[in-house]
Amino acid sequence: MRIGTPLSPSATRIMLLGAGELGKEVIIALQRLGVEVIAVDRYPNAPGHQVAHRAHVINMADGAALRTLVERERPQIIVPEIEAIATDTLAEIERAGIAEVIPTARAAQLTMNREGIRRLAAETLELPTSRYAFAETEAELKVAIDGGIGYPCIVKPVMSSSGKGQSTIQAPEDVQKAWGYAMSGGRVAKGRVIVEETIPFDYEITQLTVRTVGPSGEVETSFCEPIGHVQVKGDYVESWQPQPMSPEALRKSREIAGRVTDNLGGCGIFGVELFVRGDQVWFSEVSPRPHDTGMVTMITQVQNEFELHARAILGLPVSTALRAPGASAVIYGGMEERGIAFEGVNEALAVPQTDLRLFGKPDAFTRRRMGVALANADTIDEARRRAKLAASKVRPVKG
Ligand SMILES: Nc1ncnc2c1ncn2[C@@H]1O[C@H](COP(=O)(O)OP(=O)(O)O)[C@@H](O)[C@H]1O
Ligand SMILES: [Mg+2]
Repeated sequence: MRIGTPLSPSATRIMLLGAGELGKEVIIALQRLGVEVIAVDRYPNAPGHQVAHRAHVINMADGAALRTLVERERPQIIVPEIEAIATDTLAEIERAGIAEVIPTARAAQLTMNREGIRRLAAETLELPTSRYAFAETEAELKVAIDGGIGYPCIVKPVMSSSGKGQSTIQAPEDVQKAWGYAMSGGRVAKGRVIVEETIPFDYEITQLTVRTVGPSGEVETSFCEPIGHVQVKGDYVESWQPQPMSPEALRKSREIAGRVTDNLGGCGIFGVELFVRGDQVWFSEVSPRPHDTGMVTMITQVQNEFELHARAILGLPVSTALRAPGASAVIYGGMEERGIAFEGVNEALAVPQTDLRLFGKPDAFTRRRMGVALANADTIDEARRRAKLAASKVRPVKG
């Protein structure tokens, strides 16, 4: 294991595919370790573009464009930070030995489509999940629900993220609307949805799981403290760490996370999403990369999830130790404007034990995540209160 000098022939070059707020933090962590970083996104001046050695704008779902850029930049390592990528091209690049893909091209392929990861978890690994079915027409959807999934249930385009196109069906008369909404919100592969039984969970967690090369030279798995979170319309608004859990629920969570990540393989951090009710645990989905709810680790852990990812990518030792309990609360754009400004940052940071990230996104949308407030406290309740208070003090205004 060696790291070269950036911008010299010895450089260790890493390309981030996706340079949003999560990619930006991974890039900062890599920069600190002396890595040369190339940030790629679909629009100019993305958050990660602003902190990388070089920035490129391409459609990452375009395999030929992706391949051309990789051949030009010659990264040794490629780090997908979003789902909407030409993953078949990543697989070719990996197979040809052109670059290593984090954690593996197969993990990127399986998780970009809800069907791939769900069938792996439920059918191959036989992990507990919600009941589910796939449908390609409204009529098929209706048959699937009436034939076993039942009401209430949740419909999601198989290719979508952050709750896009996702809705709950309470009764037969909602099916048509949910189908229409899914068709408008999917990324590609329009027309295919997953419908899932609604799990009446007590709480949901993200089990951050790290695979890195240990002292023995073998890949070892370590677990962060569980992260609790609140989702509104399929998008995260608040998270905290550690989420209190029964010993049995925690044991099951880590067993499930260990089995899924072992199968996906490679090195890096994974965000394993789980639903918990009493001692019962269901697998929901997994990101083979840092998780948005894990932004809380920027204030709670000795090494945050981005530093853990950077280290694991480079095959370095990690510590998943908690430093102090804490919480995160999302700051939204609140308007549709270019180049907005933020007032009240001073008031936000006057809340005890808080910190802030403003992502630097060039365009604000009403429900676009523009920043996050972070807080520590002795208790989770107090940390959540502080994080929400700090977030509420930040006021987006026209620039
Ligand atoms: N089967 C389910 N039962 C209960 N809640 C669910 C179910 N599926 C999704 N949800 C809720 O919706 C959120 C987003 O769903 P998820 O499958 O994680 O989509 P995304 O890929 O957009 O994050 C979950 O975190 C959870 O709060
Ligand atoms: Mg999710």
